[in-house]
Amino acid sequence: MIDKIPTRKEIENLGVYVPGKPIEEVQRELGLDKIIKMASNENPYECSIKAKKAMMEEIHQAGLYPEGMAPALTEKLAHQLKIDRKRILVGNGSDEIIRLLTRSYIRPGDEVIMADVTFPRYETNVLIEGGKPVKVPLINGFHDLEGMLEAITTNTRMIFICNPNNPTGTIVSAGALRAFIEKVPKNILLIIDEAYYEYVTDKDYLQTVPLVDDFPNLIILRTFSKIYGLAALRIGYGMMHPAIVQELVKVKEPFNTNRLAQVAAIASLDDLDFVETCKRKNDEGRKYLENELEKMGLDYFPSQGNFLMVKINRSGDELFQSLLKQGIIVRSGVLLGYPETIRVSIGTEEENRAFISALKRVMESNHS
Ligand SMILES: Cc1ncc(COP(=O)(O)O)c(C=O)c1O
Repeated sequence: MIDKIPTRKEIENLGVYVPGKPIEEVQRELGLDKIIKMASNENPYECSIKAKKAMMEEIHQAGLYPEGMAPALTEKLAHQLKIDRKRILVGNGSDEIIRLLTRSYIRPGDEVIMADVTFPRYETNVLIEGGKPVKVPLINGFHDLEGMLEAITTNTRMIFICNPNNPTGTIVSAGALRAFIEKVPKNILLIIDEAYYEYVTDKDYLQTVPLVDDFPNLIILRTFSKIYGLAALRIGYGMMHPAIVQELVKVKEPFNTNRLAQVAAIASLDDLDFVETCKRKNDEGRKYLENELEKMGLDYFPSQGNFLMVKINRSGDELFQSLLKQGIIVRSGVLLGYPETIRVSIGTEEENRAFISALKRVMESNHS
């Protein structure tokens, strides 16, 4: 009997990642025609037309394995970001880089410091390796860098900073982060996850890429899943010391990123207009939502990402269900560590308006 074969003890109590509810699933369950998904911080403007064209051409090569190290994309990123290409590793989403880091560096019992709450994949991957997540509570939704420094012990192996933080959207101020990078001992890997980097409009945001040369323990993660609109293709990257790249390459799948993803990412980097437009529209959408929420008397965390975590003073699960019935998928804060919140991804103007109307309807009907 298969259930008699024990798994590794690290896996026994591990939960399964619960993603945002897919549109197709809601359509099946509720029989609604029009569904708006504002749950997984995806780009509502699809991706660059240049990326689409590049994929159409590349489709003819689908029978051939891709180049495992994505050299053309690496070169392009190196050029655009002004960083040595030996410092870049392209992954199957930045999720994969997180996995490669914990796979390569976490030994049973090693401690890994992260915020409580933050992107849940840090904790899961640490647990898979038998490491110990050390969770430092956020202060009003912001990273507590002092608290994180105090949490360092001789067993600390890694620190994760999610900047902007998912799910609160807050950023760490430039000066505070710079000082933190300097204070973290060099034998601890410091991973700064910048999945939402391109959306940030606040000037008080540290440009970390140039620091990778000076701090051999610093690792920066970015992705094509968010502003570039390529989430389905699974492509992201990390920037780090070349010696760390060499270690991660040992444990990565030989063909971790596919041909379509590689060419789409390259073409996306050539379409700066698309990125700028998405950034501007996101900023407008964020302001619109903030304004409407304020008018409704609802508070939210100050977000620099393409999502807002809204405090609703009632169960996030309930509101999630009520909005679902109105054809709008958001994330309940219950599984995200803030039970009385919902997290809503910023959509198109039309989607944002539809969300606010549905929210008003739901809030009013719950009051009456
Ligand atoms: C903070 C953060 N890091 C990493 C990821 C993973 O992104 P990718 O699609 O590149 O694996 C996400 C996805 O939502 C995220 O929010």
